[in-house]
Amino acid sequence: MSFDVSGNAYDRFMGRYSRELAPAFADFAGVEAGQRVVDVGCGSGVLTEELARRVGADHVAGADPSPLLEACAERVPGADLKRAAAEDLPWPDDSFGAALAQLVVHFMDDPEAGVAEMARVTRPGGVVAACTWDFSGRMKLLGTFWESARALEPGAAESETSAFDEARLDALWRGAGLGDVEVDEIVVSTRYEDFDELWDTFLLGAGPAGQYLISQPPDRQSAIRAEYFSRAGEPTGSFELDARAWAVRGRV
Ligand SMILES: C[S@@+](CC[C@H](N)C(=O)[O-])C[C@H]1O[C@@H](n2cnc3c(N)ncnc32)[C@H](O)[C@@H]1O
Repeated sequence: MSFDVSGNAYDRFMGRYSRELAPAFADFAGVEAGQRVVDVGCGSGVLTEELARRVGADHVAGADPSPLLEACAERVPGADLKRAAAEDLPWPDDSFGAALAQLVVHFMDDPEAGVAEMARVTRPGGVVAACTWDFSGRMKLLGTFWESARALEPGAAESETSAFDEARLDALWRGAGLGDVEVDEIVVSTRYEDFDELWDTFLLGAGPAGQYLISQPPDRQSAIRAEYFSRAGEPTGSFELDARAWAVRGRV
């Protein structure tokens, strides 16, 4: 599975973006002191930690089906964490004031069921919110990766980049019967010391891109790297990469 990696590997690869995204996404979802909140697909706990900062760890729950949950438990002691998928959340109806899923909906086996579960565990009037990357060119790290991979192997796995856009998020939320649905963008950026630092994070094997890369023979890995380097403008020294996420929220 794509997320059977250490918390440290995940954080170097994607957590560096999650960290920038988390406060903006929690603001977008209106998370504030006094609420009980659940982080669905909490992974290594980057958003969970931000939620605990706002409402206290004893008011935060999290669910994730991957071993990354162990890193979350270390990061946010006192949170109510369960090894579970969004499609079958282990909490009773109306347990939370808000349910959030950061960079998760496009990984769900059944997004409709996952969002329905998020709505079920959220009390009436509470918020259900999610965000996913914009793969139409504004998530440079992964967009450039899949362009490079496909330049060498047309049809290389691209499920990660084709699944969701703002229209589909909007439709998913309305289809789940949520009200006051709104979609907005959140733009973040992260800095790399050099191109090697970026490339090394793919070799950690995290997520579909990392998994794809490490499944390739060494000469193909080198060719993808050269293609990526060229498409990234052959950066020398440190540089920043932007990433735009679509965020959606609705009320139960
Ligand atoms: C890109 S990571 C995001 C982790 C974390 N939310 C963050 O922002 O850093 C995607 C996460 O979704 C989890 N995931 C995959 N399928 C899931 C499902 N059906 N239900 C809940 N989480 C799922 C993975 O295990 C992984 O931790």
